[in-house]
Formats: sequence, C-alpha cells, structure tokens
Amino acid sequence: TKKGFIFDLDGVIVDTAKYHFVAWKKLAKSIGIDFTEEQNEQLKGVSRVKSLEKILEWGQKNLSKEDFNHLMTQKNKDYLSYINQMDENEILPDVPKILNYLIEEKQGIALGSASKNAVAILERVKLIDKFQAIIDGNGVTKGKPNPEVFLKAKEKLNIKPEDCIVFEDAIAGIQAANSANMTTIGIGDKDILKEADYVFKDFTQISTEFINELIKKD
Ligand code: BG6
Ligand code: MG
Repeated sequence: TKKGFIFDLDGVIVDTAKYHFVAWKKLAKSIGIDFTEEQNEQLKGVSRVKSLEKILEWGQKNLSKEDFNHLMTQKNKDYLSYINQMDENEILPDVPKILNYLIEEKQGIALGSASKNAVAILERVKLIDKFQAIIDGNGVTKGKPNPEVFLKAKEKLNIKPEDCIVFEDAIAGIQAANSANMTTIGIGDKDILKEADYVFKDFTQISTEFINELIKKD
C-alpha cells in the first residue's frame, strides 16, 4: 500500500536546530536567563511563542506584552541571519537519498513542521519540490505535542494515520505523531527519544531496505 512519510524540518531535514538553540540562548542571556541542553530538548518542535513562554517560566520572569513581542521579533531576526547564509550543504546527510527513494516508490511525502520559516528554508536548500504537502507553523493553531500538524498532513496526502510514518528529532514531535496513531521514527539520541517506535542517529543509518519494509507493512 501507499504510505505517507511525514518529515519534520528543523533537525531532521536541515541542521537548523543548532541555530534555534544559539538564537534562544543569546536572547535568554540578554534578559538574564540561562538554560541547559536538557531544557533545550524541551524547546525542540515547540512554536516560537511557546518556546519564549517556557524560557520565561524557567527564568521566573514576567514580561509586558510589548516586551514579549519585541523579544519574539528579535529571536526571529537573529535566527534569519543564520538561515540566510544557508545552502544545500546544510541538508543533513542522506536526506535527499531517502526522499528520492520515496519518490521513486511513489509514496506520499509531506512536511509537518512547527516553523513559520519552513517554506523559505525548503526553497533555500532546494528541496521544496520533493513535497506533495506542506503543513507548517502558519497552518496550525495547536503546536506539537498536539497532533494537529500531522493530522493535517495526512489529510492532504489522503492517507490513513496508521499508514503514516513520521520522522522527528523532538520529544514533542514524537508525542504528537504517537497521539496521531502514526509510526514514529526518532532521529537523534535513543535515550532522549524513548517514546519513538524506532530511533536512528541520522539518515545514514536508515537503509532503503528498512524503508521498503515500512512500505510493504500492512
Ligand atoms: C520547530 C523548531 O521546528 O519550529 C523550534 O524545532 C522552533 O525550535 C519552531 O521554535 C518554530 O520555528 P520558527 O521558525 O517559526 O521560529
Ligand atoms: Mg525538529
């Protein structure tokens, strides 16, 4: 059967998770808040607004609406300064190989990202044409771990949730896909992505044989 393969963007397709981290770290520091790598794991997959809310909560800070919005703008400006330097070299290893294989096998391919910068990034690294459906931070009202983004992606692909496979590097993303009733593949550390059905360090560890098994599974 035709399956739906749904990809997260940041930290799965491109190495932008590090830019989000650097930008948040810098912003937090500017208001006297520091946060750990462990706390950063909790920001992965989480929307821009929710991320800042969490950082302020950790730092026990209250901000006026105006200051909050100002920081949000600053974060994105800083983040975009890194993004604007990006090119195809920042596609994570073997991602194009897997995408091309799925295209050859006529599988559904969608993006399910929390980012409002997703289309710009996919255009910049020239991968936009690989996707039949794109659901990003502009198309959802409830962020991961809510399953909305993945449910909208499977609607667009017109594939049942049980036939969808989600690639995610974030705890919140794995939780979202699990509650959408999809097969989850963690990309990263298996001690962190414990809730995923499978975990691989990166796409170099994923064989086309493995992808084939997922396609054949009923
Ligand atoms: C997710 C990232 O993909 O998108 C988060 O993992 C980020 O770190 C979120 O905060 C929102 O991204 P953006 O580009 O809209 O600020
Ligand atoms: Mg991610």
